[in-house]
Amino acid sequence: MSEKAWQELYSEVGAALKPSPIRELLKLTKKPGMISFAGGNPDPAIFPVKEFAEATQIFREKGEEVLQYGMTEGFEPLKGFLANWMAPKMGRVTQPEEMLITTGSQQVTDLFCSVMVDPGDTVIVEEPTYPGALHTMKNHRVRFLGVPCDENGMQVELLPDIIRKARAEGRKIKFIYTIVNFQNPSGYTLSENRRRRLLEISIETGIPIYEDDPYGLLRYNGTDQPTIFSMDTQGMVLYAGSFSKILAPGSRVGWVVAPKDVTRKMVMVKQGVDMCTSVVAQAAVYEYCRLGYLDGHLPKILDHYRKKRDAMATAFREVLPENAVYSIPEGGFFFWIRLPGIDTKELFYKAVENGVAFVIGESFYPSGGGKDYLRACFTFAQPEEIGEGARRLALAIKEVSGK
Ligand SMILES: Cc1ncc(COP(=O)(O)O)c(C=O)c1O
Repeated sequence: MSEKAWQELYSEVGAALKPSPIRELLKLTKKPGMISFAGGNPDPAIFPVKEFAEATQIFREKGEEVLQYGMTEGFEPLKGFLANWMAPKMGRVTQPEEMLITTGSQQVTDLFCSVMVDPGDTVIVEEPTYPGALHTMKNHRVRFLGVPCDENGMQVELLPDIIRKARAEGRKIKFIYTIVNFQNPSGYTLSENRRRRLLEISIETGIPIYEDDPYGLLRYNGTDQPTIFSMDTQGMVLYAGSFSKILAPGSRVGWVVAPKDVTRKMVMVKQGVDMCTSVVAQAAVYEYCRLGYLDGHLPKILDHYRKKRDAMATAFREVLPENAVYSIPEGGFFFWIRLPGIDTKELFYKAVENGVAFVIGESFYPSGGGKDYLRACFTFAQPEEIGEGARRLALAIKEVSGK
């Protein structure tokens, strides 16, 4: 069949799929000698390869179980470990019926959308926000309502008005998506007061909260904020976690905790998506955790990434123009930088010519904006590259601003 004949059969979602402009831009960065502040990747140099290989010994002991189809709900020992290990963050030991192991936390967004949204429904998101979540939601034909952020995260005081207006226009709002800690891309953390207020608004308006938290355990300084999940007594919050940033994204193991009925629905959707998350991966992650390696690994990555963050902060302080606006993130992976008067897409081409890559700000806005922002990831580049990458970036800024 011809390409054209295929195209006539595509679904509306299939037909609307376009190569992501960000991916196209990132292809330009695959050149030798490129220093990448672009992708949000962990540092492979800190992957616990030896310990993880040791954990795979579980295949010898439990091979018959591990190589079989697993329960859609997840590998029970891993669920048990997570319920206890996360209890201090969640405010209690969550029950097995509330938890589902997923194929990365990315899958949580997909499953939750399948359960919650019909085409044309609205989801409230932070502006800026994680493009991967926007992509998944677009697959479900979500319409977005953006709420601006400042240093304390989503400006939740704007929400009641935004919700009232949208509802007056007949929009059906299904949930509020928030990345509460060291947000991707801004690095901002939602303050405790705002978390409480957000929960109040959620209860008042009957709109649930999707608390996405892949970076929460990566705090380099400052004080942890309680999860919104731990404050909730009304079943308003779905909490998603991930092993990607604290252990290895190649494991593709994440999890979600939600009210039992919502979890049950997500389990049913997942049965039709992938039946279960790889039991091989879950069992290895579980054994790694059971042997105490995760608890030993976390302080190491905190120390490692803190040094990289500090190296990037020092380099930026030395070389970025004085009008560059950014704060030093207390955790996570990213610096979010505003360069007033500079179109960061234009800057991107110059920076890549100079041998450094970042992600342009407009990638993080569902309805446009962020043209003078860029996101710089500090975890992936090697320490000796960070200073040089910052110098290349500063040179590109000089070149495009003509100063
Ligand atoms: C905010 C946020 N949520 C979810 C994900 C997805 O992570 P994973 O599917 O690897 O768990 C990412 C990955 O970068 C992210 O930044």
